[in-house]
Amino acid sequence: MTDERIKTYIKGLDENMEGGIPKGYVVLITGMPGSMKSSVGFNILYNNAKENKTKGIYISLEQGRDSLLEQMDRLHMPATEVENLLSVVDIGYLRLNSEGMEYGDSWNSVFRMYAENMKESQGYDILVIDSLAAVEVLADVKNKRAELFHLFGWLRGLGVTTFIISEASTDQGIMRDEDFLADGVIHLDLRREGASVNLYLGIAKMRKTLHKRGYVPLIFDQNGFEIITD
Ligand SMILES: Nc1ncnc2c1ncn2[C@@H]1O[C@H](COP(=O)(O)OP(=O)(O)OP(=O)(O)O)[C@@H](O)[C@H]1O
Ligand SMILES: [Mg+2]
Repeated sequence: MTDERIKTYIKGLDENMEGGIPKGYVVLITGMPGSMKSSVGFNILYNNAKENKTKGIYISLEQGRDSLLEQMDRLHMPATEVENLLSVVDIGYLRLNSEGMEYGDSWNSVFRMYAENMKESQGYDILVIDSLAAVEVLADVKNKRAELFHLFGWLRGLGVTTFIISEASTDQGIMRDEDFLADGVIHLDLRREGASVNLYLGIAKMRKTLHKRGYVPLIFDQNGFEIITD
């Protein structure tokens, strides 16, 4: 593994993380529903495509492709601007068609075959999987930790940097199998403060990287994402 880094393009964060996330890592983007997980994942793909011509692919298993693209359009990240560099694929239909299929291995292998074929035909460097819960449901995971161990190992072997979106439980104190197995965990935390709800970002872990601990406000406006550090 080289020391090259993939930028998150969240202002203030890369500077606080030795320039970004080490290439080849499997990183979780975790948070409660509505904590902008998908937007943060898309932001990484969009800006890497726009700024460095890095190819990326967003595999959506939950939100439909059109709905996702429309949302990102509203967030000033029009996919049309980076057309040949960013692909969004919605393989949620596999879920609908998986009923007649054998669960477990068969779905897993379909998913892997898909990611591998896309890698060969498109040669992407960044992969976003939205979400882990959907992969687990689809694969009907029995021994979760062992299955995830294999999935993460397989992803590392793919030679890309992967961001996996995962839903956090209400109790943030609990570390789950995926938190232990991932190379990094970015936690998005929605907090109710008085009458408003504010978003915070914390790096729960990032292997081989010096980063600040603790949570900082994460804001989003027409200039993109930014953390507020003092
Ligand atoms: N400028 C903004 N600042 C904060 N939140 C915003 C802003 N613009 C849009 N949002 C809201 O962010 C919300 C969540 O975005 P996103 O879909 O990325 O979150 P998510 O964590 O992936 O959600 P889900 O759990 O539904 O998958 C949307 O409901 C949208 O209304
Ligand atoms: Mg989402």
